[in-house]
Amino acid sequence: MKNIIEVKKINKSFGNKQILHDVSFNIGEGEILGFIGPNGAGKTTTIKLILGLQSIDSGEVIINGYNVKTDFEKAIEKVGAIVESPDLYMYLSGKQNLKLIANMYKDITNEDIDKVIKQVGLENRINDKVSKYSLGMRQRLGIAASLIHKPNVLILDEPTNGLDPEGIKEMRELLIKLAKEEKMAILISSHNLAELDNLVTNTCIIKNGEILSSSSVKELKKMSRTTFKLEVDKTDGVDKIFKDKVKIIDNDSLELMVEKDEITECIEKLIKKDYKVYQVVMEELSLEDAFMIKTGGNVIE
Ligand SMILES: Nc1ncnc2c1ncn2[C@@H]1O[C@H](COP(=O)(O)OP(=O)(O)O)[C@@H](O)[C@H]1O
Ligand SMILES: [Mg+2]
Repeated sequence: MKNIIEVKKINKSFGNKQILHDVSFNIGEGEILGFIGPNGAGKTTTIKLILGLQSIDSGEVIINGYNVKTDFEKAIEKVGAIVESPDLYMYLSGKQNLKLIANMYKDITNEDIDKVIKQVGLENRINDKVSKYSLGMRQRLGIAASLIHKPNVLILDEPTNGLDPEGIKEMRELLIKLAKEEKMAILISSHNLAELDNLVTNTCIIKNGEILSSSSVKELKKMSRTTFKLEVDKTDGVDKIFKDKVKIIDNDSLELMVEKDEITECIEKLIKKDYKVYQVVMEELSLEDAFMIKTGGNVIE
């Protein structure tokens, strides 16, 4: 997979206080990286360094093959970003806001503006004043604004902050669509792991300016034990086969706590011993559970 963003061992101090320590991660085409950490961990600072809004002490950031420090304009050309909250004029309509932003670039057509409006699903409300929008709609308008110059990178600093569950769901659907259909590389920071479940493809945990862990969600969930619910014809004797990995629910159902890789073998064992298996249902682990299992504690607190 092609890396769109490469953050390599960046360090940053304010005064004599070192805020970031060798922060490194990559984001590939179509990937959504959850950049997760408690308040004060260094998320916004990292994002500001990526965007060239603050200077890097050491290390480098490469975007689309260009170094942010030495080739700023090229590196930043195809980046859309919202740091903290989107800059919107409340007394103007959504469309007027987008037109103002379009004016800052050359070659943005009305069709381009209509396309981003459609992408974020604001067609029906785009001529209303932004002051009448919900927080979720304002966030989506902010994203529309950051998409206007057709970037392939989207960087959002805590975009779910203050959103209600419906707003978070809309944001999730929008970002997944952008990653899938437009192959964008997306960085989304958050202090709330649970809000990123079913959204991010990769995670990077930051605490006190250090990266504690980086992994793809697939790996994280695959490596963790999970619960499989099995419907069978009988449960006598299964405890002898699976020992502490099994929980017998009743005469014809049981639960197995195993890794995903092990489940085929477990079913084979049952069938070999003349059990009938009618149904196997995997309980999908939440991102939070997977982390709990991996780290033995809540990394965010
Ligand atoms: N301009 C600054 N001057 C001094 N300290 C700063 C500045 N910006 C951020 N910090 C400090 O850096 C640390 C990380 O802050 P920040 O990157 O905003 O964290 P996060 O976004 O994860 O909440 C905090 O301790 C914060 O007080
Ligand atoms: Mg922040």
